[in-house]
Amino acid sequence: MLSKTFLALATLATAVLAAPGPLAPPKPAGGNSNASSPPPEYKPMSDFDFQSLNLALNQEWIELDLFNYGLARFSDAEFDAQGIDAEQRELIRFMAQQEIGHANLISNILQGAGAKQCTYSYNFNSVPEFIQFCAILTRFGESGVYGFLPALDSRPAAQLLLQSISTEARQQMAFRQLAGAFPMPVSFEAGISQSMAWTLLSPYLISCPQENPRIQWSRFPTLNVLNNPNLTAEGVPSALSTNRTQLTSPGYNIEVTYDAPGQNVSYNNSYMTVLGSNVTQTENLTCNFISQLNTTTSPFVRQSNGSGYCTIPEGQVYEGVYDNPIINGTNFLLLTSEELYVTPYNLSLLDAVVVAGPQVIVYG
Ligand SMILES: *[C@@H]1O[C@H](CO)[C@@H](O)[C@H](O)[C@H]1NC(C)=O
Ligand SMILES: *[C@@H]1O[C@H](CO)[C@@H](O)[C@H](O)[C@H]1NC(C)=O
Ligand SMILES: *[C@@H]1O[C@H](CO)[C@@H](O)[C@H](O)[C@H]1NC(C)=O
Ligand SMILES: *[C@@H]1O[C@H](CO)[C@@H](O)[C@H](O)[C@H]1NC(C)=O
Ligand SMILES: *[C@@H]1O[C@H](CO)[C@@H](O)[C@H](O)[C@H]1NC(C)=O
Ligand SMILES: *[C@@H]1O[C@H](CO)[C@@H](O)[C@H](O)[C@H]1NC(C)=O
Ligand SMILES: *[C@@H]1O[C@H](CO)[C@@H](O)[C@H](O)[C@H]1NC(C)=O
Ligand SMILES: *[C@@H]1O[C@H](CO)[C@@H](O)[C@H](O)[C@H]1NC(C)=O
Ligand SMILES: *[C@@H]1O[C@H](CO)[C@@H](O)[C@H](O)[C@H]1NC(C)=O
Ligand SMILES: *[C@@H]1O[C@H](CO)[C@@H](O)[C@H](O)[C@H]1NC(C)=O
Ligand SMILES: *[C@@H]1O[C@H](CO)[C@@H](O)[C@H](O)[C@H]1NC(C)=O
Repeated sequence: MLSKTFLALATLATAVLAAPGPLAPPKPAGGNSNASSPPPEYKPMSDFDFQSLNLALNQEWIELDLFNYGLARFSDAEFDAQGIDAEQRELIRFMAQQEIGHANLISNILQGAGAKQCTYSYNFNSVPEFIQFCAILTRFGESGVYGFLPALDSRPAAQLLLQSISTEARQQMAFRQLAGAFPMPVSFEAGISQSMAWTLLSPYLISCPQENPRIQWSRFPTLNVLNNPNLTAEGVPSALSTNRTQLTSPGYNIEVTYDAPGQNVSYNNSYMTVLGSNVTQTENLTCNFISQLNTTTSPFVRQSNGSGYCTIPEGQVYEGVYDNPIINGTNFLLLTSEELYVTPYNLSLLDAVVVAGPQVIVYG
Protein backbone atom coordinates (compact mmCIF):
# COMPACT_ATOMS: atom_id res chain seq x y z
CA MET A 1 0.00 0.00 0.00
CA LEU A 2 2.65 2.43 1.08
CA SER A 3 4.73 1.76 -1.96
CA LYS A 4 1.61 2.30 -4.16
CA THR A 5 0.99 5.77 -2.65
CA PHE A 6 4.67 6.54 -2.95
CA LEU A 7 4.58 5.52 -6.61
CA ALA A 8 1.54 7.71 -7.28
CA LEU A 9 3.21 10.71 -5.61
CA ALA A 10 6.40 10.04 -7.50
CA THR A 11 4.46 9.95 -10.79
CA LEU A 12 2.80 13.26 -9.92
CA ALA A 13 6.13 14.81 -9.02
CA THR A 14 7.60 13.57 -12.28
CA ALA A 15 4.63 15.07 -14.15
CA VAL A 16 5.22 18.45 -12.47
CA LEU A 17 8.95 18.27 -12.99
CA ALA A 18 8.37 17.22 -16.60
CA ALA A 19 7.07 20.67 -17.62
CA PRO A 20 8.56 21.31 -21.06
CA GLY A 21 10.59 24.24 -19.82
CA PRO A 22 10.46 27.30 -17.59
CA LEU A 23 6.96 28.87 -17.65
CA ALA A 24 6.27 32.59 -18.03
CA PRO A 25 5.64 34.60 -14.87
CA PRO A 26 2.35 36.57 -14.56
CA LYS A 27 2.12 39.58 -16.85
CA PRO A 28 2.47 43.08 -15.37
CA ALA A 29 -0.84 44.16 -13.82
CA GLY A 30 -3.09 46.67 -15.56
CA GLY A 31 -3.74 47.35 -19.21
CA ASN A 32 -6.98 46.76 -21.03
CA SER A 33 -6.55 43.47 -22.82
CA ASN A 34 -5.78 40.17 -21.05
CA ALA A 35 -7.15 36.65 -20.71
CA SER A 36 -9.96 37.79 -18.40
CA SER A 37 -11.04 40.73 -20.60
CA PRO A 38 -14.28 40.32 -22.56
CA PRO A 39 -13.69 39.34 -26.21
CA PRO A 40 -13.08 42.50 -28.26
CA GLU A 41 -15.97 43.84 -30.30
CA TYR A 42 -14.89 45.93 -33.26
CA LYS A 43 -17.75 48.44 -33.35
CA PRO A 44 -18.51 52.01 -32.30
CA MET A 45 -19.47 52.38 -28.65
CA SER A 46 -20.77 55.96 -28.82
CA ASP A 47 -21.90 58.64 -31.23
CA PHE A 48 -18.39 60.10 -30.84
CA ASP A 49 -16.97 56.82 -32.16
CA PHE A 50 -19.45 56.59 -35.03
CA GLN A 51 -18.91 60.17 -36.15
CA SER A 52 -15.12 59.93 -35.88
CA LEU A 53 -14.97 56.66 -37.83
CA ASN A 54 -17.44 57.88 -40.45
CA LEU A 55 -15.29 60.96 -41.02
CA ALA A 56 -12.25 58.70 -41.46
CA LEU A 57 -14.27 56.57 -43.91
CA ASN A 58 -15.03 59.64 -46.02
CA GLN A 59 -11.29 60.31 -46.06
CA GLU A 60 -10.47 56.78 -47.25
CA TRP A 61 -13.00 57.07 -50.09
CA ILE A 62 -11.51 60.30 -51.44
CA GLU A 63 -7.99 58.85 -51.32
CA LEU A 64 -9.13 55.88 -53.39
CA ASP A 65 -10.62 58.26 -55.95
CA LEU A 66 -7.72 60.73 -55.92
CA PHE A 67 -4.85 58.33 -56.49
CA ASN A 68 -6.62 56.60 -59.37
CA TYR A 69 -7.79 59.91 -60.83
CA GLY A 70 -4.25 61.34 -60.93
CA LEU A 71 -2.89 58.21 -62.61
CA ALA A 72 -5.60 58.39 -65.27
CA ARG A 73 -5.44 62.15 -65.76
CA PHE A 74 -1.73 62.54 -66.60
CA SER A 75 0.26 60.77 -69.31
CA ASP A 76 3.23 58.51 -68.69
CA ALA A 77 5.42 61.21 -70.27
CA GLU A 78 4.15 63.82 -67.80
CA PHE A 79 4.94 61.50 -64.88
CA ASP A 80 8.35 60.64 -66.38
CA ALA A 81 9.20 64.34 -66.58
CA GLN A 82 8.84 64.56 -62.78
CA GLY A 83 11.08 61.48 -62.40
CA ILE A 84 8.06 59.29 -61.57
CA ASP A 85 8.68 56.22 -63.68
CA ALA A 86 6.54 53.12 -64.26
CA GLU A 87 7.78 51.49 -61.03
CA GLN A 88 6.77 54.53 -59.01
CA ARG A 89 3.42 54.83 -60.78
CA GLU A 90 2.85 51.24 -59.67
CA LEU A 91 3.40 52.41 -56.09
CA ILE A 92 0.66 55.05 -56.51
CA ARG A 93 -1.64 52.41 -58.04
CA PHE A 94 -0.90 50.09 -55.12
CA MET A 95 -1.65 52.88 -52.63
CA ALA A 96 -5.08 53.27 -54.25
CA GLN A 97 -5.64 49.54 -53.69
CA GLN A 98 -4.73 49.95 -50.02
CA GLU A 99 -7.60 52.44 -49.74
CA ILE A 100 -10.06 49.74 -50.79
CA GLY A 101 -8.87 47.76 -47.77
CA HIS A 102 -9.15 50.76 -45.47
CA ALA A 103 -12.64 51.70 -46.66
CA ASN A 104 -13.71 48.08 -46.28
CA LEU A 105 -12.34 47.92 -42.74
CA ILE A 106 -14.15 51.03 -41.53
CA SER A 107 -17.37 50.11 -43.37
CA ASN A 108 -17.29 46.79 -41.51
CA ILE A 109 -16.70 48.47 -38.14
CA LEU A 110 -19.68 50.74 -38.90
CA GLN A 111 -21.68 47.63 -39.82
CA GLY A 112 -22.68 48.99 -43.22
CA ALA A 113 -24.08 52.26 -41.79
CA GLY A 114 -21.10 54.38 -42.87
CA ALA A 115 -20.65 56.69 -45.86
CA LYS A 116 -20.56 55.42 -49.43
CA GLN A 117 -18.23 56.91 -52.03
CA CYS A 118 -18.98 60.43 -53.30
CA THR A 119 -17.94 62.42 -56.37
CA TYR A 120 -15.02 64.80 -55.94
CA SER A 121 -13.37 67.82 -57.50
CA TYR A 122 -9.68 68.75 -57.41
CA ASN A 123 -7.85 71.83 -58.56
CA PHE A 124 -4.41 70.62 -59.62
CA ASN A 125 -3.20 70.89 -63.21
CA SER A 126 0.15 69.16 -63.35
CA VAL A 127 1.92 66.09 -61.99
CA PRO A 128 3.90 68.06 -59.36
CA GLU A 129 0.67 69.71 -58.17
CA PHE A 130 -1.09 66.34 -58.05
CA ILE A 131 1.71 64.80 -55.98
CA GLN A 132 1.83 67.77 -53.62
CA PHE A 133 -1.95 67.63 -53.20
CA CYS A 134 -1.68 63.93 -52.31
CA ALA A 135 0.95 64.81 -49.68
CA ILE A 136 -1.42 67.45 -48.25
CA LEU A 137 -4.55 65.27 -48.33
CA THR A 138 -2.83 62.30 -46.70
CA ARG A 139 -1.35 64.68 -44.11
CA PHE A 140 -4.80 65.76 -42.87
CA GLY A 141 -6.04 62.17 -43.21
CA GLU A 142 -3.24 60.94 -41.00
CA SER A 143 -3.30 63.83 -38.51
CA GLY A 144 -7.11 63.82 -38.43
CA VAL A 145 -7.03 60.27 -37.04
CA TYR A 146 -4.18 60.84 -34.56
CA GLY A 147 -6.27 63.64 -33.06
CA PHE A 148 -9.07 61.33 -31.89
CA LEU A 149 -7.62 57.80 -31.84
CA PRO A 150 -6.79 57.64 -28.09
CA ALA A 151 -10.12 59.33 -27.24
CA LEU A 152 -12.29 56.65 -28.89
CA ASP A 153 -14.58 54.75 -26.52
CA SER A 154 -13.96 51.55 -28.49
CA ARG A 155 -10.35 50.51 -28.01
CA PRO A 156 -10.77 47.50 -30.32
CA ALA A 157 -11.93 49.83 -33.14
CA ALA A 158 -8.99 52.11 -32.34
CA GLN A 159 -6.64 49.15 -32.77
CA LEU A 160 -7.87 48.45 -36.30
CA LEU A 161 -7.90 52.11 -37.28
CA LEU A 162 -4.33 52.46 -35.99
CA GLN A 163 -3.24 49.66 -38.27
CA SER A 164 -4.75 51.37 -41.31
CA ILE A 165 -3.48 54.83 -40.45
CA SER A 166 0.03 53.45 -40.08
CA THR A 167 -0.13 52.64 -43.78
CA GLU A 168 -1.56 56.08 -44.51
CA ALA A 169 1.43 57.61 -42.73
CA ARG A 170 3.73 55.71 -45.07
CA GLN A 171 1.72 57.03 -48.03
CA GLN A 172 2.10 60.60 -46.78
CA MET A 173 5.85 60.19 -46.62
CA ALA A 174 6.03 58.45 -50.00
CA PHE A 175 4.21 61.39 -51.62
CA ARG A 176 6.73 63.81 -50.10
CA GLN A 177 9.47 61.67 -51.61
CA LEU A 178 7.72 61.60 -54.97
CA ALA A 179 7.64 65.41 -54.72
CA GLY A 180 11.41 65.46 -54.21
CA ALA A 181 11.07 66.68 -50.62
CA PHE A 182 12.88 65.61 -47.48
CA PRO A 183 10.60 62.76 -46.35
CA MET A 184 10.06 63.71 -42.69
CA PRO A 185 11.76 66.88 -41.40
CA VAL A 186 10.08 66.42 -37.98
CA SER A 187 10.39 64.00 -35.06
CA PHE A 188 6.65 63.81 -34.26
CA GLU A 189 3.53 63.79 -36.42
CA ALA A 190 0.84 66.19 -35.22
CA GLY A 191 -2.80 65.38 -34.51
CA ILE A 192 -5.76 67.68 -35.28
CA SER A 193 -9.42 67.58 -34.25
CA GLN A 194 -12.23 66.00 -36.28
CA SER A 195 -13.72 69.43 -37.04
CA MET A 196 -10.35 70.62 -38.31
CA ALA A 197 -10.03 67.52 -40.53
CA TRP A 198 -13.60 68.00 -41.83
CA THR A 199 -12.85 71.66 -42.60
CA LEU A 200 -9.90 70.53 -44.74
CA LEU A 201 -11.68 67.60 -46.42
CA SER A 202 -15.12 69.05 -47.14
CA PRO A 203 -14.24 71.37 -50.08
CA TYR A 204 -13.44 68.40 -52.34
CA LEU A 205 -16.75 66.54 -51.81
CA ILE A 206 -19.16 67.57 -54.54
CA SER A 207 -22.06 65.14 -54.41
CA CYS A 208 -22.72 62.25 -52.03
CA PRO A 209 -25.45 59.63 -51.84
CA GLN A 210 -28.56 60.69 -49.95
CA GLU A 211 -28.11 57.90 -47.39
CA ASN A 212 -24.62 59.02 -46.31
CA PRO A 213 -24.72 59.83 -42.58
CA ARG A 214 -24.55 63.58 -42.03
CA ILE A 215 -21.16 64.64 -40.70
CA GLN A 216 -21.74 66.04 -37.22
CA TRP A 217 -18.42 67.89 -36.86
CA SER A 218 -18.09 71.65 -37.37
CA ARG A 219 -17.05 73.10 -40.69
CA PHE A 220 -15.05 76.25 -39.95
CA PRO A 221 -14.61 79.17 -42.39
CA THR A 222 -11.92 78.61 -45.01
CA LEU A 223 -8.45 79.99 -44.44
CA ASN A 224 -6.81 80.82 -47.77
CA VAL A 225 -3.04 81.06 -47.96
CA LEU A 226 -1.76 83.48 -50.59
CA ASN A 227 1.94 82.58 -50.52
CA ASN A 228 1.93 78.93 -49.46
CA PRO A 229 5.48 77.73 -49.97
CA ASN A 230 5.25 74.69 -52.16
CA LEU A 231 7.08 71.67 -53.44
CA THR A 232 6.12 72.27 -57.07
CA ALA A 233 8.05 75.49 -57.62
CA GLU A 234 11.58 74.18 -58.07
CA GLY A 235 10.94 71.14 -60.25
CA VAL A 236 12.97 68.85 -58.00
CA PRO A 237 12.54 65.27 -59.24
CA SER A 238 11.26 62.36 -57.22
CA ALA A 239 13.90 60.91 -54.87
CA LEU A 240 14.20 58.87 -51.70
CA SER A 241 15.43 62.00 -49.94
CA THR A 242 16.51 65.43 -51.10
CA ASN A 243 18.43 68.03 -49.07
CA ARG A 244 16.22 70.82 -50.35
CA THR A 245 16.84 74.47 -49.83
CA GLN A 246 14.55 75.49 -46.98
CA LEU A 247 11.05 76.64 -47.93
CA THR A 248 10.36 78.62 -44.74
CA SER A 249 12.12 79.59 -41.55
CA PRO A 250 11.06 81.49 -38.43
CA GLY A 251 10.17 85.07 -39.38
CA TYR A 252 8.50 84.09 -42.68
CA ASN A 253 5.16 85.87 -43.05
CA ILE A 254 2.30 83.65 -44.21
CA GLU A 255 -0.23 85.89 -45.94
CA VAL A 256 -3.84 84.80 -45.60
CA THR A 257 -7.42 85.73 -46.27
CA TYR A 258 -10.31 84.09 -44.50
CA ASP A 259 -14.00 83.75 -45.18
CA ALA A 260 -16.85 85.01 -43.05
CA PRO A 261 -19.01 82.23 -41.51
CA GLY A 262 -22.48 81.31 -42.79
CA GLN A 263 -21.48 80.02 -46.24
CA ASN A 264 -22.98 76.90 -47.77
CA VAL A 265 -20.26 74.42 -48.59
CA SER A 266 -19.32 70.82 -49.36
CA TYR A 267 -21.37 68.12 -51.01
CA ASN A 268 -24.77 69.19 -52.29
CA ASN A 269 -24.02 72.54 -50.56
CA SER A 270 -25.51 70.90 -47.48
CA TYR A 271 -23.18 72.19 -44.76
CA MET A 272 -22.73 75.71 -43.39
CA THR A 273 -19.52 77.25 -42.10
CA VAL A 274 -19.55 78.25 -38.43
CA LEU A 275 -17.30 79.92 -35.87
CA GLY A 276 -16.15 77.97 -32.80
CA SER A 277 -18.89 77.77 -30.17
CA ASN A 278 -17.07 80.13 -27.77
CA VAL A 279 -16.00 82.85 -30.22
CA THR A 280 -17.04 86.26 -28.91
CA GLN A 281 -14.96 88.55 -31.13
CA THR A 282 -13.19 88.35 -34.51
CA GLU A 283 -11.11 91.54 -34.42
CA ASN A 284 -8.08 90.37 -32.41
CA LEU A 285 -6.98 86.97 -33.66
CA THR A 286 -4.20 84.52 -32.81
CA CYS A 287 -2.23 82.42 -35.31
CA ASN A 288 -1.83 78.81 -34.12
CA PHE A 289 0.90 76.68 -35.67
CA ILE A 290 0.04 73.02 -35.05
CA SER A 291 3.17 70.96 -35.68
CA GLN A 292 4.91 68.02 -33.99
CA LEU A 293 3.91 67.97 -30.27
CA ASN A 294 3.20 71.67 -30.03
CA THR A 295 0.70 74.35 -30.82
CA THR A 296 2.74 77.55 -30.88
CA THR A 297 1.24 80.97 -31.46
CA SER A 298 1.96 84.43 -32.83
CA PRO A 299 -0.34 87.45 -33.06
CA PHE A 300 -2.37 87.75 -36.26
CA VAL A 301 -1.44 90.98 -38.07
CA ARG A 302 -4.70 92.27 -39.54
CA GLN A 303 -4.33 94.25 -42.76
CA SER A 304 -7.98 94.57 -43.69
CA ASN A 305 -11.22 92.86 -42.75
CA GLY A 306 -10.62 89.21 -43.60
CA SER A 307 -6.92 89.43 -44.44
CA GLY A 308 -3.51 89.73 -42.83
CA TYR A 309 -0.52 87.60 -42.02
CA CYS A 310 0.99 85.18 -39.50
CA THR A 311 4.70 85.21 -38.73
CA ILE A 312 6.31 81.79 -38.16
CA PRO A 313 7.60 81.81 -34.57
CA GLU A 314 10.90 80.42 -33.32
CA GLY A 315 10.90 77.36 -31.12
CA GLN A 316 12.41 73.94 -30.66
CA VAL A 317 10.33 70.95 -29.55
CA TYR A 318 12.83 70.21 -26.77
CA GLU A 319 14.80 73.40 -26.32
CA GLY A 320 18.53 72.78 -26.00
CA VAL A 321 18.30 68.99 -26.43
CA TYR A 322 18.91 68.76 -30.19
CA ASP A 323 18.13 70.84 -33.26
CA ASN A 324 14.43 70.22 -33.96
CA PRO A 325 12.56 73.37 -35.05
CA ILE A 326 8.88 72.80 -34.17
CA ILE A 327 7.30 74.12 -37.34
CA ASN A 328 8.36 72.15 -40.39
CA GLY A 329 7.21 69.58 -42.95
CA THR A 330 3.57 69.47 -44.09
CA ASN A 331 1.64 70.96 -41.16
CA PHE A 332 -1.16 73.26 -40.00
CA LEU A 333 -2.08 76.92 -39.45
CA LEU A 334 -5.29 77.96 -37.63
CA LEU A 335 -6.81 81.33 -36.65
CA THR A 336 -8.49 81.59 -33.25
CA SER A 337 -10.23 84.31 -31.24
CA GLU A 338 -8.20 83.52 -28.12
CA GLU A 339 -4.80 82.20 -27.25
CA LEU A 340 -5.28 78.85 -25.49
CA TYR A 341 -2.49 76.60 -24.29
CA VAL A 342 -3.15 73.06 -25.49
CA THR A 343 -1.16 69.82 -25.57
CA PRO A 344 -1.71 66.87 -27.94
CA TYR A 345 -4.46 65.15 -25.89
CA ASN A 346 -6.56 68.29 -25.36
CA LEU A 347 -5.87 70.00 -28.68
CA SER A 348 -9.55 69.71 -29.67
CA LEU A 349 -10.33 72.39 -27.03
CA LEU A 350 -9.15 74.82 -29.73
CA ASP A 351 -12.34 74.01 -31.69
CA ALA A 352 -14.31 76.33 -29.41
CA VAL A 353 -12.29 79.39 -30.45
CA VAL A 354 -11.67 78.80 -34.18
CA VAL A 355 -12.34 81.76 -36.47
CA ALA A 356 -10.91 80.19 -39.66
CA GLY A 357 -8.97 77.16 -40.81
CA PRO A 358 -6.95 75.21 -40.42
CA GLN A 359 -5.02 75.20 -43.66
CA VAL A 360 -2.14 72.89 -44.53
CA ILE A 361 1.14 74.73 -45.03
CA VAL A 362 4.17 73.15 -46.69
CA TYR A 363 6.67 74.65 -44.26
CA GLY A 364 9.58 72.59 -45.53
C1 LIG B 1 -7.38 42.72 -17.36
O1 LIG B 1 -8.04 43.67 -18.22
C2 LIG B 1 -9.12 44.31 -17.57
C3 LIG B 1 -9.79 45.18 -18.65
O2 LIG B 1 -10.38 44.34 -19.62
C4 LIG B 1 -8.62 45.14 -16.41
O3 LIG B 1 -9.71 45.77 -15.78
C5 LIG B 1 -7.89 44.25 -15.44
O4 LIG B 1 -7.31 45.04 -14.43
C6 LIG B 1 -6.81 43.46 -16.14
N1 LIG B 1 -6.28 42.47 -15.22
C7 LIG B 1 -5.06 42.53 -14.75
C8 LIG B 1 -4.66 41.41 -13.83
O5 LIG B 1 -4.29 43.40 -15.03
C1 LIG C 1 -26.79 65.22 -53.85
O1 LIG C 1 -27.13 65.44 -55.19
C2 LIG C 1 -27.17 64.25 -55.96
C3 LIG C 1 -27.39 64.65 -57.41
O2 LIG C 1 -28.47 65.51 -57.52
C4 LIG C 1 -28.28 63.34 -55.43
O3 LIG C 1 -28.31 62.14 -56.15
C5 LIG C 1 -27.97 63.03 -53.96
O4 LIG C 1 -29.03 62.28 -53.41
C6 LIG C 1 -27.80 64.32 -53.17
N1 LIG C 1 -27.32 63.98 -51.86
C7 LIG C 1 -27.76 64.57 -50.76
C8 LIG C 1 -27.08 64.22 -49.48
O5 LIG C 1 -28.67 65.38 -50.78
C1 LIG D 1 4.09 77.45 -55.87
O1 LIG D 1 4.92 78.59 -55.61
C2 LIG D 1 5.19 79.37 -56.77
C3 LIG D 1 6.12 80.49 -56.36
O2 LIG D 1 7.18 80.01 -55.63
C4 LIG D 1 3.89 79.91 -57.34
O3 LIG D 1 4.16 80.59 -58.53
C5 LIG D 1 2.92 78.77 -57.61
O4 LIG D 1 1.67 79.32 -57.98
C6 LIG D 1 2.73 77.92 -56.37
N1 LIG D 1 1.90 76.78 -56.70
C7 LIG D 1 0.98 76.30 -55.87
C8 LIG D 1 0.22 75.10 -56.34
O5 LIG D 1 0.75 76.78 -54.77
C1 LIG E 1 22.42 68.44 -46.14
O1 LIG E 1 21.98 69.40 -45.17
C2 LIG E 1 22.69 69.31 -43.94
C3 LIG E 1 21.98 70.21 -42.94
O2 LIG E 1 21.75 71.47 -43.50
C4 LIG E 1 24.16 69.67 -44.19
O3 LIG E 1 24.87 69.58 -42.98
C5 LIG E 1 24.74 68.67 -45.19
O4 LIG E 1 26.06 69.05 -45.53
C6 LIG E 1 23.91 68.61 -46.46
N1 LIG E 1 24.37 67.50 -47.26
C7 LIG E 1 24.39 67.52 -48.58
C8 LIG E 1 24.87 66.26 -49.25
O5 LIG E 1 24.02 68.49 -49.22
C1 LIG F 1 12.81 73.27 -41.49
O1 LIG F 1 13.97 72.46 -41.43
C2 LIG F 1 14.99 72.92 -42.27
C3 LIG F 1 16.09 71.90 -42.21
O2 LIG F 1 16.38 71.57 -40.88
C4 LIG F 1 15.47 74.29 -41.80
O3 LIG F 1 16.45 74.79 -42.69
C5 LIG F 1 14.27 75.25 -41.78
O4 LIG F 1 14.64 76.49 -41.23
C6 LIG F 1 13.14 74.66 -40.95
N1 LIG F 1 11.96 75.52 -41.04
C7 LIG F 1 11.46 76.16 -39.99
C8 LIG F 1 10.22 76.96 -40.23
O5 LIG F 1 11.97 76.07 -38.88
C1 LIG G 1 -15.91 92.36 -41.40
O1 LIG G 1 -16.54 91.41 -42.25
C2 LIG G 1 -17.65 90.77 -41.65
C3 LIG G 1 -18.13 89.67 -42.55
O2 LIG G 1 -17.90 89.97 -43.88
C4 LIG G 1 -18.73 91.80 -41.35
O3 LIG G 1 -19.81 91.16 -40.71
C5 LIG G 1 -18.13 92.86 -40.42
O4 LIG G 1 -19.08 93.88 -40.23
C6 LIG G 1 -16.87 93.45 -41.04
N1 LIG G 1 -16.25 94.33 -40.06
C7 LIG G 1 -15.77 95.52 -40.38
C8 LIG G 1 -15.13 96.29 -39.27
O5 LIG G 1 -15.86 95.98 -41.50
C1 LIG H 1 -27.63 78.07 -47.70
O1 LIG H 1 -28.60 77.05 -47.74
C2 LIG H 1 -29.82 77.40 -47.13
C3 LIG H 1 -30.71 76.18 -47.06
O2 LIG H 1 -30.62 75.47 -48.26
C4 LIG H 1 -30.43 78.54 -47.91
O3 LIG H 1 -31.64 78.95 -47.30
C5 LIG H 1 -29.46 79.72 -47.91
O4 LIG H 1 -29.95 80.75 -48.72
C6 LIG H 1 -28.11 79.30 -48.44
N1 LIG H 1 -27.16 80.38 -48.22
C7 LIG H 1 -26.31 80.79 -49.14
C8 LIG H 1 -25.36 81.89 -48.72
O5 LIG H 1 -26.28 80.33 -50.27
C1 LIG I 1 6.65 71.23 -27.12
O1 LIG I 1 5.92 70.14 -26.59
C2 LIG I 1 6.68 69.35 -25.68
C3 LIG I 1 5.83 68.14 -25.30
O2 LIG I 1 4.56 68.54 -24.83
C4 LIG I 1 7.05 70.20 -24.48
O3 LIG I 1 7.82 69.45 -23.57
C5 LIG I 1 7.86 71.40 -24.94
O4 LIG I 1 8.10 72.24 -23.88
C6 LIG I 1 7.10 72.17 -26.02
N1 LIG I 1 7.98 73.17 -26.58
C7 LIG I 1 7.61 74.45 -26.65
C8 LIG I 1 8.63 75.39 -27.19
O5 LIG I 1 6.52 74.83 -26.29
C1 LIG J 1 -5.32 90.33 -28.38
O1 LIG J 1 -5.26 88.95 -27.98
C2 LIG J 1 -4.05 88.62 -27.34
C3 LIG J 1 -4.05 87.08 -27.12
O2 LIG J 1 -5.28 86.63 -26.63
C4 LIG J 1 -3.93 89.40 -26.01
O3 LIG J 1 -2.73 89.07 -25.38
C5 LIG J 1 -3.99 90.89 -26.33
O4 LIG J 1 -4.03 91.61 -25.14
C6 LIG J 1 -5.23 91.23 -27.15
N1 LIG J 1 -5.15 92.62 -27.61
C7 LIG J 1 -6.19 93.43 -27.55
C8 LIG J 1 -5.97 94.81 -28.08
O5 LIG J 1 -7.27 93.08 -27.09
C1 LIG K 1 -4.45 71.24 -21.90
O1 LIG K 1 -3.68 70.36 -21.12
C2 LIG K 1 -2.54 70.96 -20.50
C3 LIG K 1 -1.82 69.86 -19.73
O2 LIG K 1 -1.30 68.92 -20.63
C4 LIG K 1 -3.01 72.05 -19.56
O3 LIG K 1 -1.90 72.70 -18.98
C5 LIG K 1 -3.83 73.07 -20.36
O4 LIG K 1 -4.36 74.05 -19.49
C6 LIG K 1 -4.98 72.40 -21.07
N1 LIG K 1 -5.63 73.38 -21.95
C7 LIG K 1 -6.88 73.83 -21.76
C8 LIG K 1 -7.38 74.84 -22.73
O5 LIG K 1 -7.61 73.41 -20.88
C1 LIG L 1 -16.24 78.20 -23.29
O1 LIG L 1 -15.70 79.14 -22.40
C2 LIG L 1 -16.13 78.95 -21.06
C3 LIG L 1 -15.65 80.14 -20.23
O2 LIG L 1 -14.26 80.35 -20.43
C4 LIG L 1 -15.59 77.62 -20.56
O3 LIG L 1 -16.02 77.39 -19.25
C5 LIG L 1 -16.13 76.51 -21.47
O4 LIG L 1 -15.54 75.27 -21.09
C6 LIG L 1 -15.76 76.80 -22.91
N1 LIG L 1 -16.42 75.83 -23.77
C7 LIG L 1 -15.73 75.10 -24.63
C8 LIG L 1 -16.53 74.16 -25.49
O5 LIG L 1 -14.52 75.16 -24.74
